[in-house]
Amino acid sequence: MTQAQAKHLKDYQAPLFTISHIELDFDLKGADTQVIAKSKVQRIGEHNEALILVGEQIQLQSVLIDGEKTNYKQENTQLIIETELNEFELTVVTKQDPEANSSLEGLYMSDGAYCTQCEAEGFRRITYFLDRPDVLAIYSVRVEADKAAFPYLLSNGNLIEQGSCDDENRHFVRWQDPFPKPSYLFALVAGDFDLLEDKFITKSGREVKLQVFVDKGNLHKANHAIVSLQKSMAWDESRFDLEYDLDIYMIVAVDFFNMGAMENKGLNVFNTKYVLADTASATDDDYHGIESVVGHEYFHNWTGNRVTCRDWFQLSLKEGLTVFRDQEFSSDLGSRAVNRIQAIRVMKNQQFAEDAGPMSHPIRPESVIEMNNFYTVTVYNKGAEVIRMMHTILGEKNFQLGMKCYFKRHDGQAVTCDDFVNAMESASGIDLAQFRRWYSQAGTPTVQVSDQYNAATKQYQLTVKQSVVSQGKTGAALHIPFSIELLDSQGASIANQVLDVKQAEQTFIFENVAALPIPSLLQDFSAPVRLDYQFNVDQLVHLTRYASSEVARWEASVGLFSQAVWQNVSSLEAKETMHLDARVIEAIRGIVLDDGIDKALVAEILAFPTAAALIEQVESVNLDKLAAAREFVVNEISEACLDELVTRYRSLIKEDDAASRAFKNICLSLISKVSSEYEDLVTKQYQDASNMTDSLGALKAAVCGQLTCQPSLMQDFEQKWLTTPLVMDKWFSLQASQNTDDVLEVIKGLTEHESFSFNNPNRVRSLIGFFVAANTYQFHDASGKGYDYLTDVLIKLNELNPQIAARMITPLIQFSKFDDKRQQLMKASLLRLKALPNLSKDLFEKVDKALEQA
Ligand code: TRP
Ligand code: ZN
Repeated sequence: MTQAQAKHLKDYQAPLFTISHIELDFDLKGADTQVIAKSKVQRIGEHNEALILVGEQIQLQSVLIDGEKTNYKQENTQLIIETELNEFELTVVTKQDPEANSSLEGLYMSDGAYCTQCEAEGFRRITYFLDRPDVLAIYSVRVEADKAAFPYLLSNGNLIEQGSCDDENRHFVRWQDPFPKPSYLFALVAGDFDLLEDKFITKSGREVKLQVFVDKGNLHKANHAIVSLQKSMAWDESRFDLEYDLDIYMIVAVDFFNMGAMENKGLNVFNTKYVLADTASATDDDYHGIESVVGHEYFHNWTGNRVTCRDWFQLSLKEGLTVFRDQEFSSDLGSRAVNRIQAIRVMKNQQFAEDAGPMSHPIRPESVIEMNNFYTVTVYNKGAEVIRMMHTILGEKNFQLGMKCYFKRHDGQAVTCDDFVNAMESASGIDLAQFRRWYSQAGTPTVQVSDQYNAATKQYQLTVKQSVVSQGKTGAALHIPFSIELLDSQGASIANQVLDVKQAEQTFIFENVAALPIPSLLQDFSAPVRLDYQFNVDQLVHLTRYASSEVARWEASVGLFSQAVWQNVSSLEAKETMHLDARVIEAIRGIVLDDGIDKALVAEILAFPTAAALIEQVESVNLDKLAAAREFVVNEISEACLDELVTRYRSLIKEDDAASRAFKNICLSLISKVSSEYEDLVTKQYQDASNMTDSLGALKAAVCGQLTCQPSLMQDFEQKWLTTPLVMDKWFSLQASQNTDDVLEVIKGLTEHESFSFNNPNRVRSLIGFFVAANTYQFHDASGKGYDYLTDVLIKLNELNPQIAARMITPLIQFSKFDDKRQQLMKASLLRLKALPNLSKDLFEKVDKALEQA
């Protein structure tokens, strides 16, 4: 293999040719599958360059221009065609074996069905093409396959013809998509499914047929997905005034899928995890996940498909914006505070970590080796935060005017992030020149705040200093919407506003403040920055009680817990005994007893910061002391509040809503952690459970408390769900979550389990991915055995599925906060990977960057 080459944003060049129409003819025949692609090619501008198409892992059979054989060259992945014609019809015939494709990119088989995944650069595994998002073509597709095995033949757009072939055992269909689209939005599915149908009437009165295709026997699990789709369509009309544009919308759920779902025009392909649900097998979180992913893919129809990306460096144009839209959808339909808390957790625990590690990049990356490596929490989630900041600065009304302007200017085009900001700027009249730096600057800015109160002048003053170091360089000052509230000592709100921070250092003065207030800072995470302000315990307790924002109350509780942990880490370092401030316990007790707080919010507060979250708060960590200190603080709180937790638990079991279940189950885990006296509560809940949230809640409590009932409950669960892969995934994750010295042996054993397969990304993620990402203490065991095991797994996945391998390597390349010994062990693992003769581009890019930092 030739050395992997980086591509740079600064080298972008408009295409030399375009393809306005393509006719694809698929003859699906296992190892003898053939694709004929007939394209209408046009030269753009005056030049004599050759037409260069790309193709990968397919066998070229023939190339015709206007029906005649033509000369061509093949160099690596390129097909080079010299011609003087300015406009011609190009026919390319290729063969491939979808059954042998384990990468789940291009055309592959999932459980007996053919399906495709083309984003980002998978279309080149289907035919030689101008596989770049700024080439928009109208597709018509013919698919032919065996009738019995593949009764449904699907592609984008409208079905225009179907019938039998000369061979009576085979049939064919033709699909036509009226909207020009980039190749990454192409999709094809052929298989046997159960079909759930419904409809949606758009606000202008058009009837849209909705179809959800699921594996045979799962029809009863498709209802929530189709209802979520109807809600998404209605919400996009009411909040964004955006209507669906085709007469049919199809969703196909497949078992083998690298990500959550894919927004192919009119034919979304979904991971079964984000479609299938019934109360017996899916948790409340699963239901929420389905609603949000169905929404996300639907919202792409406008933000991504109607207006798409000029090049892949602009990925956040569609992803950041669409994540923002799906977050707003979830927040309008459910609890805004809880949704915000979950988004903040992703930012602080995952995105900050990414930005502090070797893969740090701006939301609009400047250099890429493997595009699949840039579907990141930075592009998606920080990208959504950047959109959210614009929304905060402009306000809903101006933001919606900006969206209108964006669609008016760019419908049907492939555009850049700058085009989006320009539209927001034109529509609102608000200057976003400085704001644009968020697109080009990597790293997490720190906002340091100090305050002063002057009793004589009744002035309160906040001084805000921002700084960012990104990849060794100091960044320029950013435009930061900094939301604050000031509370008086009684808990009344005396100011609540968004400060426009633009300079490296800025002071804000508040007049007529009667006494020293308590500040709530960076309310609701109004910007993706690290806040540096020395809160004391009394201030934090005050904020947990009185902050107007529920998110701020949660933030304050996180602050209280985290401070308590770090103080005890210091005590351990000084060889002093550990201790927990009574005010922390009383604050938590108050929250447990408070009937007035949303139960879902209490559940979030009681889900204290994980080890991984705590590590993100510091520059370097002594993991063993952190483990001991965190354990101590959780146990102290739980023991002190045991009676209250048990009392609340007993009353909550009478309720039947998701928030009550969340609160109840976190109570049960905390109770089980510190006392074995209540084991009967766990077994009773498990036995009485009428839904997966409660069964799993009981199991988690048993695992978390290492209760004696644990083995038998785990075994019962396994027997019950052996043939339901998505539920077995939960069981695999529970197994992998155990903080026991033999957990790695357990995991290795489970890779031989009849339900496990290295070929299925959901299985790999739930067992091994969960272990490396969430079982922090065991993965980072000082012996290095966790690192060795992950490396063995990555070597296997490097060949089977490089995308999944590259996604799972994350904890191994984020080594900078650990002690020298662990760092050396992690680097040794990276060197072992680097030495592989067939290292994929995906892993190469990450390993190489990590070792550069080492
Ligand atoms: N565009 C998809 C989304 O955000 C995600 C996606 C990108 C994807 N690459 C993929 C999905 C590869 C599956 C496989 O919704
Ligand atoms: Zn997306």
